[in-house]
Amino acid sequence: MTSQTDFQQIFNTAPQTQASAPGRVNLLGEHTDYNDGFVLPTAIPQHTTVSLGFSPDDRHHFYSAELEEWAHFTNHELVPEGFVSYVLGCIRVLEKIGHTVPPLNLFVTSSVPIGSGLSSSAALEVATLRGLRSLLHLDLDDVQIAKLGQQAEIQYAGVQCGIMDQMAASLADTDHLLFLDTRSLDRKLLPLPSQAEILVIDSGIPRSLATSGYNQRRSECEEAARLLGVPALRDVTDPNIVKNLPEPLNRRARHVINENNRVLQALKSTSAEAFGALMNASHASLQHDYEVSVPGLDRLVELLQKTPHVFGARLTGAGFGGACVALVAAERAESIGQNVLSSYTHTGYKGRILVPDLGMV
Ligand code: GLA
Repeated sequence: MTSQTDFQQIFNTAPQTQASAPGRVNLLGEHTDYNDGFVLPTAIPQHTTVSLGFSPDDRHHFYSAELEEWAHFTNHELVPEGFVSYVLGCIRVLEKIGHTVPPLNLFVTSSVPIGSGLSSSAALEVATLRGLRSLLHLDLDDVQIAKLGQQAEIQYAGVQCGIMDQMAASLADTDHLLFLDTRSLDRKLLPLPSQAEILVIDSGIPRSLATSGYNQRRSECEEAARLLGVPALRDVTDPNIVKNLPEPLNRRARHVINENNRVLQALKSTSAEAFGALMNASHASLQHDYEVSVPGLDRLVELLQKTPHVFGARLTGAGFGGACVALVAAERAESIGQNVLSSYTHTGYKGRILVPDLGMV
């Protein structure tokens, strides 16, 4: 079967409902969300669509078009890892708050690249929960959907993630930046800096250590907050305070404090140049203080930063591989992307342009 396969073809009946959610790219505010801090993502054009219907028997029947993978199981059987665990995680979190989810026929198709740091998992969770909201007539708003998606990721995918990705998948659009205070969940849609557009390039480096490295960073931040006597690093604004912390907690905390300050600064800077400078500073901080970059990502970012008409560039998402985001002069993203890619020669890795969406994913 190919990704052209649809629900009708494989289940021999039309779906009862369908829902989609986009991937996201984060412009500024990396590794701040689980510190109650500030983030600035936007939705990307690529999205995940989940089609749903009731199963004719006592088993769930899930199919992923891109992975060409089936899963058939009852509620009592163990399920394989992979896309199924995200979907099942969503079902389980709904059950935990008292909803009954009957056996389902479910079909997933997605253009969000997997493993590039563009939140394919949040897109799947939010699309699944939106689909279940519609199928089962659940009274859930978009913020509740995001929170449930985050719980599914934490409890069933093992990533101690913050709320940014699911909030972006649930509430962002491709025309704005979503400024989000991850503590209060206050948010605002903002325009992109004028005369600028977004370029996202995948480094082609798989995010192999992402889960363990991510969870470790999170506990380092929690320990730093505990030593500083604050509920979360969000509650500190002066980076000099980290002098009182041991290595590497001092650098981890410095990244988070400076990164939160950069997001707040970006809200005030109207020019693409000023915004880009903040992105460059963010990358340096992720590279040296937070240590979530890898040499291939540094090379890609460096190439982008020294290309004319690029205002700024940085790794995006959790790091340890995945994609870089750049803010570039309007109408130039594709040509800049092609030029940078031709110089990006990191043995064995093949980069590709993800945004603008050239339809090659
Ligand atoms: C992953 C997590 C998010 C966030 C980013 C880093 O995408 O899912 O919650 O922490 O990493 O900013």
